[in-house]
Amino acid sequence: MRILTLANLKGGSAKSTTTFNLAGSLAELGARVLCIDLDPQKTLGEAFFGVYAGSKTLSEALINDAAIEEAILPTDFENLFIIPADDGLKGIKSGQTQLEGGELRLRSCLSRLRGTLEQLSGHGQIDWILIDTPPSLDRLTMNALAASDYVIVPVDPGAGGRGALGDTIEYVYSARKWYNPTLQVAGLVINNTDPRTVYDQTTEQLVRDIYGDLVFDIVITASVRVRESAESRVPLVFCDGNEFVRYANMYRALRDEFLERVG
Ligand SMILES: Nc1ncnc2c1ncn2[C@@H]1O[C@H](COP(=O)(O)OP(=O)(O)OP(=O)(O)O)[C@@H](O)[C@H]1O
Ligand SMILES: [Mg+2]
Repeated sequence: MRILTLANLKGGSAKSTTTFNLAGSLAELGARVLCIDLDPQKTLGEAFFGVYAGSKTLSEALINDAAIEEAILPTDFENLFIIPADDGLKGIKSGQTQLEGGELRLRSCLSRLRGTLEQLSGHGQIDWILIDTPPSLDRLTMNALAASDYVIVPVDPGAGGRGALGDTIEYVYSARKWYNPTLQVAGLVINNTDPRTVYDQTTEQLVRDIYGDLVFDIVITASVRVRESAESRVPLVFCDGNEFVRYANMYRALRDEFLERVG
């Protein structure tokens, strides 16, 4: 079981979209994937997968250090599971809900989950956990980074996005320093661009000049197909229709590059 967080301070930088489609493309290979929606906006769980929190919630698991597996729900897709966000996350995010050792709660829940799943062997295993985070560098995002093996930063390469990117990378390094020395930056993925425009070519190059090999080769270009897939609640790799193939293949390429990097 390996754990990947998708994080970027900037709102609308395609964190949820990347989580949704990367999860789909990993499940397509036969991996068993659990998505965790750690964003109180509930985009990943409710908007993208159409799955709502049940009676056992993520925030209860974090607050009471309770069994997180009870919050796992199936999706419409084989091998794809989700722990949806719930309203209790808002109090954790704002600091209104006091938690001792608050940054390490998810890490603690997930290491116990790992132990529980290992006893099940075979059926019931989870290969990948993908965590979607809110657009802020707060306690929820720190919980995700503290619990993870890897982080991918989806990037909006425009001017506003680059400032947020620097702050996000610094935050990742502080997570590594204070909570999780083995956390690896798997890469930055440039999203939602139109490579035919000079502006987007220039901004992409600027990000590559600064971050070099950290930036994935694949760029996810902007398309209404990406929006349609999210709106129909079907990850691109599972969408029917030739018009989706090109975009599904971008996420397959991202998956393959990611798997090559993490070995
Ligand atoms: N490649 C793309 N082409 C077109 N639209 C896209 C693409 N990627 C993402 N989008 C759209 O951009 C918007 C923001 O994406 P998304 O919700 O994934 O960002 P986010 O970083 O999770 O946002 P937030 O910070 O609010 O959580 C969504 O409407 C999504 O459908
Ligand atoms: Mg989001």
